Amino acid sequence: MAILDILHFPDPRLRNKAKPVSEVNERVRKLVDDMFETMYQAPGIGLAAIQVNAPLRVVTIDISEERNQPLTLINPEILEREGVEEMDEGCLSVPGIYEKVKRADRIRFRALGRDGNAYERDADGLLAVCIQHEIDHLDGKLFVDYLSNLKRQRIRKKLEKEARQAMPEPVGTVI
Ligand code: NI
Repeated sequence: MAILDILHFPDPRLRNKAKPVSEVNERVRKLVDDMFETMYQAPGIGLAAIQVNAPLRVVTIDISEERNQPLTLINPEILEREGVEEMDEGCLSVPGIYEKVKRADRIRFRALGRDGNAYERDADGLLAVCIQHEIDHLDGKLFVDYLSNLKRQRIRKKLEKEARQAMPEPVGTVI
């Protein structure tokens, strides 16, 4: 397994639309395993393949306290939405930022698991929010898109500044 690099907003690759997985083969299972390792290490409760620059419709989630309930969603689809929930959301691609976002409170969804078998289930609360957040990623959408332009610009500037400060000093001969 391997820890993958996570792209940060405003990286344009986060705006790619992910393609459906045509076959859950060894390559896809390796991606899933690497995503879990990356997500647990970060640490985060959800990760979409697009965040590690793999534009495929693959999502990993684990909302359990013990970090022992991995949930794999390949080609996920939301079948039903109900109610409204407003939660503070964060994102591994928008580090250090937490903002309120309104989403459906209960959903029914369908996906393929790591074994390639289709399953359908209901989710509510945090899990429902997390699934909606990750499926947004697959469509090139980020939670900051739900905020005002002003707020989004402010977050963009903050992260761009942090990225600049994290850059290593140029190495070379000073003459
Ligand atoms: Ni995210």
